[in-house]
Amino acid sequence: MHRTDENTQTSGLVLGIETSCDETSAAVVRRGREVLSNIVASQIATHSAYGGVVPELASREHLRNIVPVIRESLSSAGVEITDLDAVAVTEGPGLAGALLVGISYAKALAYAIQKPLIAINHLEGHIHAVLLAAQDTIFESPAIALVVSGGHTHLYFAEYAEGLWTYRNVGRTLDDAAGEAFDKVAKLLGLPYPGGPWIDALAKYGDDAAVKFSFSQVKPKPYRAAHAMNPDFLFSFSGIKTAVLRYVETHDMKEGIAMRRNHLLANPTPTVADALAFCDEKTLGLIASFQRAVVDDLARKTFAAAEQLGARSILISGGVAANRELRVRLTSAAATRNLPIAFPTVSLSTDNAAMIAAAAWPKLCARAIADSALSAQPSLTLG
Ligand code: KG4
Ligand code: ZN
Repeated sequence: MHRTDENTQTSGLVLGIETSCDETSAAVVRRGREVLSNIVASQIATHSAYGGVVPELASREHLRNIVPVIRESLSSAGVEITDLDAVAVTEGPGLAGALLVGISYAKALAYAIQKPLIAINHLEGHIHAVLLAAQDTIFESPAIALVVSGGHTHLYFAEYAEGLWTYRNVGRTLDDAAGEAFDKVAKLLGLPYPGGPWIDALAKYGDDAAVKFSFSQVKPKPYRAAHAMNPDFLFSFSGIKTAVLRYVETHDMKEGIAMRRNHLLANPTPTVADALAFCDEKTLGLIASFQRAVVDDLARKTFAAAEQLGARSILISGGVAANRELRVRLTSAAATRNLPIAFPTVSLSTDNAAMIAAAAWPKLCARAIADSALSAQPSLTLG
């Protein structure tokens, strides 16, 4: 991938801060590509009892974690605060209160050390996680970037020119995000939160042809008119969640689910083997078929966009990019089309601050500096 390596007067140390949802993270990245530290304090334990993120609790946890997480990111990078060349922070999209914790801290810090403050769109951060992981691999622009996480399922047409990436949003979900569907289906089946990694781990034990799920083409007329998006690139994941619920109701699975939920909830550190012990063949088939259907849908629309828009490479990012079946199937689909494809490492797939610091580097080089009026943009879009 083409890289910006101007700005040679500085050592290029950027502190990234990410607090958009339920991870408090700080990272030091040199020149947008060398991760010196990437500290993530997860709030899973706080939210798991509720089966989803509770915004008020998220803000409180960020407040509690932000100072130690930033201190640890600096110390494990072996960097003093005064060595930094810039402070980068997620401005949105995300939870307003959660974003504000990171933004307020970043502003105060940048002011105190008299260094530039860079505002980063969380979605662009996810795309940069792929670029960070791919390092010197050559990708051709334009690319199709799929950002697939708990809050987002977006397709971008991404172009690189003169040191900067620009994005055009060409596809999106009209209802639930793919990760949200993983989490809701897992919850429905009595699995712990967040459900994506549990479904990923259990799916390989089930028959993915056991249950037939279908995704019909999405045609929401007002939406199409407003955004002029090709319906081939639109997603909808609320239907499959309802189909799983209906399957559970018509196949007498409620008792087994309650038993699984009670056992796993009673265990403070449940393992995949613990969950497996409470999953019968029918449940495993349902899990495998659900994952297969979602992965197939993501693959079909990503490659349809790549083909129709003439993309020369594919970038996959966001929490769901950690999914093993997604990686295997997209990698082989890309190989048959002779398209280069890249994923972040598993730890860079879910929310982290290294991707925020990496995305800030081209902006710092281009002097795209945020001003002191920077505030949280909970509904910020990209492209
Ligand atoms: O990117 P992320 O950390 O946060 C958002 O920006 O949303 O993504 C979290 C989402 C959750 O829905 C989680 O269940 C899902 O990513 N996820 C996975 C896997 N690991 C995390 N989904 C499927 N398979 C996985 N291995
Ligand atoms: Zn995210």
